[in-house]
Amino acid sequence: MTGHALEFVILTDAHFGPPGQTLYGLDPRTRLDAAIDVINRDHPQLDFVMFAGDLTDLGETAAYENLAGALARLRAPYILMLGNHDRRGPFRSVFPDADDDGNGFVQALRVLPAASILTLDTLDEEGQTHVGTLCAKRLAFLEKALREAPADRPLLLFQHHHSGSVGIPSMDRYIMRNADEQWAVFERAGRRPDAMFHGHIHRPIFGLWRGIPYHVQRSLMHQVGFDRETAHQIAGTLEPPDYAFVRVAPEGLTIHQRSFLYDGPRFWLHDTTAVEGRFE
Ligand SMILES: [Fe+2]
Repeated sequence: MTGHALEFVILTDAHFGPPGQTLYGLDPRTRLDAAIDVINRDHPQLDFVMFAGDLTDLGETAAYENLAGALARLRAPYILMLGNHDRRGPFRSVFPDADDDGNGFVQALRVLPAASILTLDTLDEEGQTHVGTLCAKRLAFLEKALREAPADRPLLLFQHHHSGSVGIPSMDRYIMRNADEQWAVFERAGRRPDAMFHGHIHRPIFGLWRGIPYHVQRSLMHQVGFDRETAHQIAGTLEPPDYAFVRVAPEGLTIHQRSFLYDGPRFWLHDTTAVEGRFE
């Protein structure tokens, strides 16, 4: 971090299982190990890595232990959020120091010099649904955090589920169920986030929700296809993963998508041999 800049990485939807267990032919541990190699190498001064939910696929203790083993190699601090595939009990048994808002929800407000980072827990564990939920206690936490966040720096809100439709019907079925109530809390507190960040959809998407810019980070694992028609089932793809590198500085915010598995040529655009399609 230099001056009042903040630099962080977003990884999401790691869908870990117990060691060695694959999903759609992919091993989440191998994927995360590869991401960590690049992050350790290229971002030695990173403020944190945000894991925006769906840490595991089925929420087993062994899956969280597998994740903890991978994270032991990450040099940067990390923040763990829950998604609809997670389970709070097994999660806490492996990560006892994770965020706790006082009611057991995995959410927190971090006031940093360049920005405030607000994380919300939108898991509907009681209802056992995959939709996003903010119960009365979580809405109260949100309102308090909005009131506490200093007005002199941006407020970045992270929540696994999206609050506004993204036009992919199979995933919009699992949207934040009480987005209107969430919006009412923004109004009551007199504070809106300057930007929102999500996982959940397994696709890279940028948009505005009622005027608030939002970013959806694609998955570390399987992706969701660009299917704007099918509602009753989710189209999967094996499009390559990436991570988001985010820099917040006084002049603004930038988000870079980094394809950490790319191992093809790197070349200068004006190099004649490269222009001819020949790479050393
Ligand atoms: Fe997911």
